[in-house]
Amino acid sequence: VAAPDLAGRHVVVSAGGTREPLDPVRYLGNRSSGKQGYALARTAAARGARVTLIEANTGLPDPAGVDVVHVGTAVQLREAVLKAAAEADAVVMAAAVADFRPAAYATGKIKKKDGQEPAPVELVRNPDILAEISTGRARPAQVVVGFAAETDDVLANGREKLRRKGCDLLVVNEVGERKTFGSEENEAVVLAADGGETPVPYGPKESLADTVWDLVVPRLG
Ligand code: C5P
Repeated sequence: VAAPDLAGRHVVVSAGGTREPLDPVRYLGNRSSGKQGYALARTAAARGARVTLIEANTGLPDPAGVDVVHVGTAVQLREAVLKAAAEADAVVMAAAVADFRPAAYATGKIKKKDGQEPAPVELVRNPDILAEISTGRARPAQVVVGFAAETDDVLANGREKLRRKGCDLLVVNEVGERKTFGSEENEAVVLAADGGETPVPYGPKESLADTVWDLVVPRLG
């Protein structure tokens, strides 16, 4: 049984990947399974926290004892995260949020026409939710955690991202064959704004989740 070191705390976790609709049948999406976010929600609940899980397109069943909010797009995820973060002690952004969305939504299905080139898809930027909650903390002592999936210069890129986003902790994943997307296992380094660096060896997503909470707990006000 886990130590109840998050008892009396409210934590918000985002999980899954946003889908940005192009027309009623198509979207721009990503490969996030939501498993890491769900592991964070389950472990936080086991450690006594009140948990709000904001879920985007995972298809996973709601974990017991957790408040779940279902969203689809980055804009919806932002609304839900900002609302829940207003009274949270910690916010962990494990969701893969689309950086861009189609500039226009076609209310009817986009058709292909014989002999015609496809029309280019114009994209616009989505809001950066992690940067927004990090720079405009709803509470002074709120702890904000981000995730970063990188393919090269993992640590250097992670450090730079931690600074740019303004969060307290950044979990840096190397995206690879067996790792990260869709897998039951993960391997990461947790970078802290105060200079700490915690390597988490390859193992179940629960282990990484518990390490994240181990690092969050001493930083809570
Ligand atoms: O910049 P990048 O997408 O690599 O950053 C990843 C981190 O930022 C994740 O924690 C993700 O949840 C968050 N993010 C966000 N809003 C975006 C893009 C990413 O909150 N528009």
